[in-house]
Amino acid sequence: MKIQTERPTRFFIKSYGCQMNSYDTQRMEDSLLEAGYKKANAIEDADVAVFNTCCIREKAGEKLFSDLGRLRLLKEKSGGDCLIAVTGCISQFQREELLQRAPYVAIILGPQDIQQIASGVREVMRKDRNKIIATTMNAGDKFRRLSRNFYARNVSESLTIQEGCDNFCTYCVVPFSRGRGFSRPAVDVISEAKKLMDLGVKEIILLGQNVNSYSGEGSDGKTWNLHRVLLELAQLDGLKRLRYITSHPKDIDENMAKAHSDIDILAPSIHLPVQSGSDDVLAKMNRRYSADEYLKCVEMLRKYRPDMAVSSDFIVGFPGETETDFQRTLRLIEEVKFSQGYSFKYSPRPNTAAAKMEDQTPESIKSERLKVLQALLNRQQQEFNHNFVGKRLNVLLTKVGKHKNQLSGRSEYSQAVSVCATNVAIGDIVSVMVTGAASYSLLGAVAE
Ligand code: 5AD
Ligand code: SF4
Repeated sequence: MKIQTERPTRFFIKSYGCQMNSYDTQRMEDSLLEAGYKKANAIEDADVAVFNTCCIREKAGEKLFSDLGRLRLLKEKSGGDCLIAVTGCISQFQREELLQRAPYVAIILGPQDIQQIASGVREVMRKDRNKIIATTMNAGDKFRRLSRNFYARNVSESLTIQEGCDNFCTYCVVPFSRGRGFSRPAVDVISEAKKLMDLGVKEIILLGQNVNSYSGEGSDGKTWNLHRVLLELAQLDGLKRLRYITSHPKDIDENMAKAHSDIDILAPSIHLPVQSGSDDVLAKMNRRYSADEYLKCVEMLRKYRPDMAVSSDFIVGFPGETETDFQRTLRLIEEVKFSQGYSFKYSPRPNTAAAKMEDQTPESIKSERLKVLQALLNRQQQEFNHNFVGKRLNVLLTKVGKHKNQLSGRSEYSQAVSVCATNVAIGDIVSVMVTGAASYSLLGAVAE
């Protein structure tokens, strides 16, 4: 009898960037698990290290190269062998740089080629091939060929329904890294949602770079938009909550705004990046709305759901941004009262129109403006949270908390809430009386 002494190959995937990348990371994990590989607890213990990368800002790329260098050094020291794969947006957008700076990387897959991860690892491990490079940008093929096996993770899961973008905002690499807009067929979306629910998922977050531009073939052969997909998903028995990200302000129509009051499981929260409050900057960004139109859009959403929580992204120091432009952004923030905000210094990206603009903003001004903006956004977020002390929130419990008898989860407004609770379970939506608010989270107890 032959005794099997070899341990199974273990992999670790490090994910950078947005939720769409996290979704891709999960699908790659599913593919590798399905192929018989096991998950390592840390990258240091892995035989196969996968870096699923982001290139939205320069910093994200630099982080990859320093992480690669560190892993290499570590493996050299320990004498361990490690197959390194780089997947995602950097593989697509900075492929040549990657080949040059990290020639030891054995597998390079663009965001729409990740379905090849398991076969790629097998082929390189068997030494059938030394190097595998695929950057085809074929989103249809990706979703057709990704693993159909899903492994249970959380009661709240994401589901990519659309990726890529046709908008060509002048600062953005997405049309180059993820390609043009692609919508998955609605039939696939619904069947994936059902699979997630079979695994105990209670909340589904529909993902897309520009999710409101979704247009996929439905079960009736007609083209469905996001609203139609939401209606269909809301019919699924047992699904407790729906969200979608990210929306472009120009694509929110009255029907979508109304959906937030018509569809009871659709959360009253929306991520609606404004980027700037100055019409001049918005025009140079090619955003195709004015500050006033953005405010009208928020007003329309709040007409149907007065409690609508609006979060946003902001870029400071876009080329040519004056102090007056920046003050307009601050004014818009004061007016909207955001529940949450993510802000970034403008980072010039190769191939984009804004990178070629002449009046680039000095780094020191970018840093100064970012500080001011973040202080305002933090203050707003704290005010938003403090307003709920003494009130009730519906919290979907997603995991165990830090303390005994504590679970934590998310409110309908997307706030993190820690809940003192007995006789309730992960996956329940419970009515919580809020007793306290920290900067970024709330504390409460299950209400009688
Ligand atoms: N520089 C800085 N921030 C950017 N974003 C996108 N491209 C850039 C860039 N070149 C920000 C936008 C977007 C978020 C995902 O990242 O705010 O909404
Ligand atoms: Fe980063 Fe954009 Fe790629 Fe997401 S799609 S990982 S934000 S570059």
